[in-house]
Amino acid sequence: MPTPLPGPMTLGPYRLPNRLFVAPMAGVTDRPFRVLCKKLGAGYAVSEMVTSRKDLWNSLKTSRRANHEGESAPISVQIAGTDAQMMAEAAAYNIDRGAQIIDINMGCPAKKVCNKWAGSALMQDEPLALEIIEAVVAACAPRGVPVTLKMRTGWCQAEKNAVRLARAAQEAGVSMVTVHGRTREQGYSGQAEYDTIAAVKAALNIPVVANGDISTPQKALEVLAATGADALMIGRAAQGRPWIFAEIAHFLETGELLPAPRIADAKRWLIEHLHDHYTLYGELTGMRSARKHIGWAVRALPGGEDFRRHMNTLDSCDDQVRTLSDWLDALAQDHDRLPYLAPAANDDPDEELSSGVSPHNNDNSAHEERRLTA
Ligand SMILES: Cc1cc2nc3c(=O)[nH]c(=O)nc-3n(C[C@H](O)[C@H](O)[C@H](O)COP(=O)(O)O)c2cc1C
Repeated sequence: MPTPLPGPMTLGPYRLPNRLFVAPMAGVTDRPFRVLCKKLGAGYAVSEMVTSRKDLWNSLKTSRRANHEGESAPISVQIAGTDAQMMAEAAAYNIDRGAQIIDINMGCPAKKVCNKWAGSALMQDEPLALEIIEAVVAACAPRGVPVTLKMRTGWCQAEKNAVRLARAAQEAGVSMVTVHGRTREQGYSGQAEYDTIAAVKAALNIPVVANGDISTPQKALEVLAATGADALMIGRAAQGRPWIFAEIAHFLETGELLPAPRIADAKRWLIEHLHDHYTLYGELTGMRSARKHIGWAVRALPGGEDFRRHMNTLDSCDDQVRTLSDWLDALAQDHDRLPYLAPAANDDPDEELSSGVSPHNNDNSAHEERRLTA
C-alpha cells in the first residue's frame, strides 16, 4: 500500500495545500513557471536565488526575479551570499518587496561574492554559515517571516555535515530545512542518496524536505519511505512536465498512476505559460528564453527532438506559439493523450543534466548556472 503524504502543512503562519514543492532553479523557476506548477498541483514554490549584492538589486535580472505578481501565497524568496550583514539586508529588502518566506541558499553552487563562494560552499565553513543564518533570522523574525534553509548532504564525501548544520539551524530559529541528497563536490553527478536526509529528519523537530532525483511517482514514494521526510521537492523532473506534481499526489494517495495529460489540456497550459513568460521578459528575451521550456515539454514525445531544433530557428513569439500549437494539434490527430516515449525527464542526469542545466537552456541565467556548477 502506498504511504500517503499527510495532507496540508503549515510553514509559519501559512498553510500549504500539499507537501510537493517546486525546487528553486535559476533560469527556470521564474514567476510564470512557479504559477504554472502551483496551478497544476505543487503546494509550494521557491523563487530563483536573489543575490545579496546591493549593486545588482536594480539590475533587470534581479528585478524580474523579485516580481511576484499573481503568485499565490506564500511568496518564498531565496537569497544567496557570503556576508551575514548583507544577507540580513537582502532578506529585509525582499520582505519589503513582498517576500513572505526567506530561503537561504546553501544547496546550490552560487556566484563568488566578495571573493568567497556562496550557496553550498558555505557548508564548508560552519561558523560563517551559522552567522548568516542567525543574522537572517534576526532580520526576519520581528517581521513574522519564517526563514528556511536549503542545503546539500555536506561539502564532500568525507565531510557530510548536514545533520550538524541542520541541528544548529533549527536552534537558531530556522523553520524548515530542505536537503538535496548530494554533496557539493558531487555537483549533479552520481545518484542522490537518502540516508543522510533520513538522518537529518530523525534529528530535527521542524519539517524536513527531501530533494534529489525524484523523477517519477514511484520514486517519490521510495524517497518518502526511505527518509520519512515531511515533504518532497522536485526540480528537473518538473521541467517541461509541470503536471508531475498532480501525478505524484495521485499515486501517493491511491497507488495508481494517472494517465498522461490530454494533449488539448497540455496545449492550453503550455500556451498560457508562454504568454505569461513573454509578458514578464518582453518579446525578444521572452522568445529566446521560452525555447528551453518548449524543448523540455516536447523532448520525450515522438519527433520532439526534431521539433525542438526547428523551434530554435523561429524568431518571434507569434511564430513560436503558432508552431507549437500546430505541432500539438497534429499529434492530437493520432493520440488523445501525450504519447511519452520515456517515463521521466531526468532519468539519466549524466546525459544532459550533469552540468545542472539542459543544453537547450539558452538564457543568461542558464549560462551563469552552467559556469557556476562546473
Ligand atoms: C538549472 C538549475 C538551476 C538551479 N538553481 C538553484 C538555485 O538557484 N538555488 C538552489 O538552491 N538550488 C538550485 N538548483 C538545485 C535544485 O534546486 C535541486 O536541488 C536539484 O536540481 C536537485 O533536485 P532534482 O533532482 O529534483 O532536480 C538548480 C538546479 C538546476 C538544474
